[in-house]
Amino acid sequence: MSINIRAVQQGFVGEVTAINLCAPITQAQADAIEKGMDDYAVLTFPGQPMTDEQQVAFTRNFGQLEITLAGQMAKPGERRFQQLELGDISNYANGDTSRHYAREDKKRLYALANRLWHSDASFRAVGAGYTLLHARVVPSKGADTQFADMRAAYDALSAADKAEVENLVCEHSIVFSRQAIGFDDYNPGFDEHLKPVPHKLVITHPKTGRKSLYLSSHIGGIVGWPVPEARAFIRDLTEHATQPQFVYSHKWQVGDLVMWDNRTVMHRATRFDDLKEVRDLRRTSLKGIGLEVKLPQAEAVAA
Ligand code: OGA
Ligand code: MN
Repeated sequence: MSINIRAVQQGFVGEVTAINLCAPITQAQADAIEKGMDDYAVLTFPGQPMTDEQQVAFTRNFGQLEITLAGQMAKPGERRFQQLELGDISNYANGDTSRHYAREDKKRLYALANRLWHSDASFRAVGAGYTLLHARVVPSKGADTQFADMRAAYDALSAADKAEVENLVCEHSIVFSRQAIGFDDYNPGFDEHLKPVPHKLVITHPKTGRKSLYLSSHIGGIVGWPVPEARAFIRDLTEHATQPQFVYSHKWQVGDLVMWDNRTVMHRATRFDDLKEVRDLRRTSLKGIGLEVKLPQAEAVAA
């Protein structure tokens, strides 16, 4: 049976039905989903009561899984899932489902940077392609995830602005997004992960050929620009790219799976009362084919 995709926001967000993600899918179904990801940029799959194993198996249909930096940085005893491919996007303290993170807990404070517009893992040499989030427990209010269409934002730039951004290379690091919220309390031994990496500001999707702005709160500079000028410019572009006409807000229901392409959208979490209520989502991500940068500036940035 062929899958059904209904446009929620034309050319941006589609809702997929007539598929069961709790069982293996066929190659034809995987191809149809991939085409849907290219036609849209965000796909939602309501009513999919998947297990962790089913989510990992479903994700493998689309490429090689990434491991999350938060999972990597946590001590093994404090990890909720031993499998590093499975991201714990919950407010349970160190995976202990009987208690929430306390207000001052540094893992809570680190994760609050998800509330800034970002593209997953843009702080890695190869950022994430698709990310998949699955909802297990949702709070009574708030906690939407918002998405902004970076192809539409690029298309809406003036010809002069397009020419200005075309060849710019940005420096991304987890340090910059955390600096923006005043967090700098890293565990020792992760310096390697904190170094800035270069990414082009305008990227071309390897399959659709469409250009998008590769923006992210992880950006802290533009190669060859003074830092204040770069940050002011990135702020302007981010404001442009996140205007309401480019944004979709997903209101979570238990059992929703939402999948997006980090090469074509930014996203952010929104507030909820995380000291009183529980929100438990599971995340899987894929390596972003087509995001490799081979530029002479790469050495300069890494030095
Ligand atoms: C993430 C993320 C948003 C949310 O898991 O990468 O940004 O709403 N999550 O939890
Ligand atoms: Mn994210």
